[in-house]
Amino acid sequence: MPFFHYRSAEQLANEVNRLGLTDQIILDSQVRRLAQPVSVGGRKLWNAFAYHPMEGCDGTTDGRPSALTERRYERLATGGGALIWVEATAVSLEGRANPRQLCINEQTAKDFERLVKRIRQRHKERFGEERILIGLQLTHSGRYCYQDPRPVVGDPVLDRRLPARWSGRYVTDGELEDLTKDFLHAARLAWSVGFDFVDIKQCHRYLLSELLSAKTRPGPYGGDLSHRTRLARQIFLEIWNQIGDQILLASRINVFDGPAFDSSGRPEKYPQPFLYGFGCDPNDPLKVDLTEPIQWIKEMVDLGVQMVNVTMGNPYANPHIGRPFDRPPNDGYPAPEHPLVGVARHFQATAQVKKAVGPQALIVGTGYSFLRQFLWMAAEANLRRERVDIVGVGRGALAYPDFAQDLLNTGAMDVRKVCLAVSFCTTLMRTKDHPLGQAPTGCVPRDRLYAALYDHLHKGKAVKIL
Ligand SMILES: Cc1cc2nc3c(=O)[nH]c(=O)nc-3n(C[C@H](O)[C@H](O)[C@H](O)COP(=O)(O)O)c2cc1C
Repeated sequence: MPFFHYRSAEQLANEVNRLGLTDQIILDSQVRRLAQPVSVGGRKLWNAFAYHPMEGCDGTTDGRPSALTERRYERLATGGGALIWVEATAVSLEGRANPRQLCINEQTAKDFERLVKRIRQRHKERFGEERILIGLQLTHSGRYCYQDPRPVVGDPVLDRRLPARWSGRYVTDGELEDLTKDFLHAARLAWSVGFDFVDIKQCHRYLLSELLSAKTRPGPYGGDLSHRTRLARQIFLEIWNQIGDQILLASRINVFDGPAFDSSGRPEKYPQPFLYGFGCDPNDPLKVDLTEPIQWIKEMVDLGVQMVNVTMGNPYANPHIGRPFDRPPNDGYPAPEHPLVGVARHFQATAQVKKAVGPQALIVGTGYSFLRQFLWMAAEANLRRERVDIVGVGRGALAYPDFAQDLLNTGAMDVRKVCLAVSFCTTLMRTKDHPLGQAPTGCVPRDRLYAALYDHLHKGKAVKIL
């Protein structure tokens, strides 16, 4: 039986109770705070829903948004959520995690400009006025770059013991220093093409995220927390000094890396960088310790970061932590804990961050999609208790982009459209044998286009893609 088999909020609440998670997962039954405007740096979001960054692996091979990318964002533009957080976009071609990842540079900037205009136009056509915020997530994929040798910033000794698939190259201090320019340049371009904010991505163990845990790296970028955060600090300072009065600064950050899990769903025992993961209890990487994440987030806020998107885990090494699921992706393992425990971990960590940061910055929360048609109830409860300021939805938005509109209009979400947390979207993006080198991704159970694509790739059926 799937974990999620609850037909009513009452059944879900009973399960939460049985699992001892009543402090973390609370369900409210009326939409109030969700429908109220939220102020962000002098701008107004017209409700408290955000669409999380969700990579579609559907850019052109030179990093431009394609017709498929545009289709995805047009669906979000008319979906009713107030904040569109455009997916992980590399600051350089060599920093991409797959050959279809977006990359912002001089050659592609015009295409991003078209995308932003299209989102605003579609939103305005649908709602009569423009009332959304659009941001761009800027990233360097570090050890997850698709081209070898992948730059590894973590521990030189432990990394050598990792499996051969990590054909890593230990990145030098000079190279790290140069990355500040790449991020600044990309942020400038993002501003010039009309984005409202940029997110400096420090999550999911891509380069800036891995650096946060480079505890055993010698030199200026490793060791104590002030060294490990040096590069991100330089990036925030530069962006703030150069264009801080033009564009909002945000960051999506892992507050808990967690250990890597093996294919049977057990935490791996051999020494590996995750042992030293950011936000992990040094004596037990399975336990969350927010001392360092909170210290760094407070400093980020002092550096001008106005929006912090709290997330956790690693999609390759421990997908159940970041994206609680009913069924694992093809390269995953069966959930080693009840997914509601994962949801509760997200909510609890986010609430602690919010408590520490106070009103100085807006905190965006993660982990809602597993709750399907009841996600808004937990969202409402977390907002009312000031455990979060903006509710981000990831997989749930790929499945059902207009969930926010439906909820705000009717007070309910359509159970036939919600995300089933069965990981086809992750499986698709892991599929390499696509004619274009990387399968684009979307919701297989809820979007015919991706159902057809999945059938084609996995069952050999014909498919027409845009
Ligand atoms: C297909 C897919 C693509 C994703 N792309 C990104 C991304 O570009 N940037 C990012 O920070 N997180 C990315 N994520 C993580 C999601 O934003 C989100 O954190 C995760 O799915 C958990 O939230 P949910 O339960 O609402 O889905 C991706 C997740 C999936 C499944």
